[in-house]
Amino acid sequence: MKQDRVYFFDTTLRDGEQCPGAAMNLREKLQVARQLARLGVDIIEAGFPITSEGDFAAVQQIAREVKGPVICGLARCVPKDIEAAAEAVKPAGKRARIHVFLGTSKIHREFKLGKAQAEILRLAVEGVRRAKAHVENVEFSPEDASRTELDFLVNIVQAAIEAGATTINMPDTVGYATPAEYGEMFAHVIQHARGAGRVVFSAHCHDDLGLAVANSLAAVRHGARQVECTVNGIGERAGNAALEEIAMGLKTRGDFYGNLRIGIRPGEIVRTSRLVSRMTSFLVQRNKAIVGENAFSHSAGIHQDGILKKRETYEIMNPEDVGWGKTELPLTKHSGRHAVAVRLKHLGLNMSDGDVNTIFTRVKQIGDKKKFVYDDDLVALAEGHITEVPETWSLEYLSVSSGNHTVPTATVRLKRFTGPKTPPETHQDAGIGDGPVDAALKAIDRITKIRGRLKDYALRAVSQGKDALGEVTIQADFGNGHQLAGKGASTDVIEASARAYLNAVNRYLNEREPNPRKTGPR
Ligand code: KIV
Ligand code: ZN
Repeated sequence: MKQDRVYFFDTTLRDGEQCPGAAMNLREKLQVARQLARLGVDIIEAGFPITSEGDFAAVQQIAREVKGPVICGLARCVPKDIEAAAEAVKPAGKRARIHVFLGTSKIHREFKLGKAQAEILRLAVEGVRRAKAHVENVEFSPEDASRTELDFLVNIVQAAIEAGATTINMPDTVGYATPAEYGEMFAHVIQHARGAGRVVFSAHCHDDLGLAVANSLAAVRHGARQVECTVNGIGERAGNAALEEIAMGLKTRGDFYGNLRIGIRPGEIVRTSRLVSRMTSFLVQRNKAIVGENAFSHSAGIHQDGILKKRETYEIMNPEDVGWGKTELPLTKHSGRHAVAVRLKHLGLNMSDGDVNTIFTRVKQIGDKKKFVYDDDLVALAEGHITEVPETWSLEYLSVSSGNHTVPTATVRLKRFTGPKTPPETHQDAGIGDGPVDAALKAIDRITKIRGRLKDYALRAVSQGKDALGEVTIQADFGNGHQLAGKGASTDVIEASARAYLNAVNRYLNEREPNPRKTGPR
């Protein structure tokens, strides 16, 4: 462990993905994990293997395929959890970590676990030992550490270190701490727990009071050398500490934080943020620090004038350093397959030959409708393709009539894929609605006989100009706890809406009956 280095532990795929509506499939998780490796995170918490087959498979596949960072699986201090995590992270070999956690605060002990301090201490030690039998690299988290009695916290941390933990993470599970308290807690435990010098102390903060990043940085000031965070700060409730904010905080204010080194490559930040936003369908708010669209735009005349005279008058970071605004020559309908493949690679998108062919076809289609296909368009097409699930229903034809004196009407033709050997069926119907999007979605409902309630709808222009691609992101509720996101992009916003809705319908069908439906095109 190097004292002048802060390790980045990314939990976008575990704590981040845990929040409702942010679920990713295996393909999406792999893309995110590969990009996290490119971003330079030190540890990827890839999931909580015991919770589902999907989580187990994702951790295992990431451990198998993603090179560079340590791959970590979460487990309660329960034998079956630890065995599952050990099995899932095994393919990472020496880069495998098991993260065991157990509630330690009075409220967790009494109301959640119904156990006294001595029993909690025993379970923690057993959990760490069991994990240690599988891997060298074991992290222990006393859950709700910030609300745990300090004496007991010192005791349990000490016991976990003696049992073999190599990282001690002290989470602010409910986002209750203030920066001063959280920093002091680190200082106190590091000073009083025997063996503290042998392990890395870690901060894990939630944003319920908007203090997650401030608390993480306070912990670093008081000796933490690992920060647990998520891209764009996604996570349970108000989210986790945002990786990009901690990284740029440490870099920009190195003078204050002691010039600590980090492995994060800032130039990859914006690309990672966009990828995570697309894969989770969680839009980034415009004014979000570092990665929001407005993070570096200055509208006040005085500011613009100052910036033109000397950038540093109103800018503390260079937007290009975090990956904003690096524009390349756009593609056109005349660009060849090779140019598309090279550009995808350059943009950090790992695609098979088959995927490149599909995206190349989409570039040609879009190129027929608009002059230039910009990098942002290409990323939207590629990421739209990654987030596609095997299609049961696919859009064939859409015609819409609307206007201020017309009842909005849509005619939709869909293809239905029933099996690998049977040709697709064609179904057509029409719908009327409050507006053209509503009419198109109603026509889709009539054909598929599936009714999704639209919970959220967002439209954004992917690139510049009146002919920009429109990207629609929706959340639809199909009942019985099936709330799914969908995305679609097109130069026509009604078509983009229909594609986004069908994407959610296909996800729903895939979730309901995973295997038999895996028949449509990819
Ligand atoms: O917030 C929390 O306490 C957690 C633990 C599992 C580390 O996510
Ligand atoms: Zn958490």
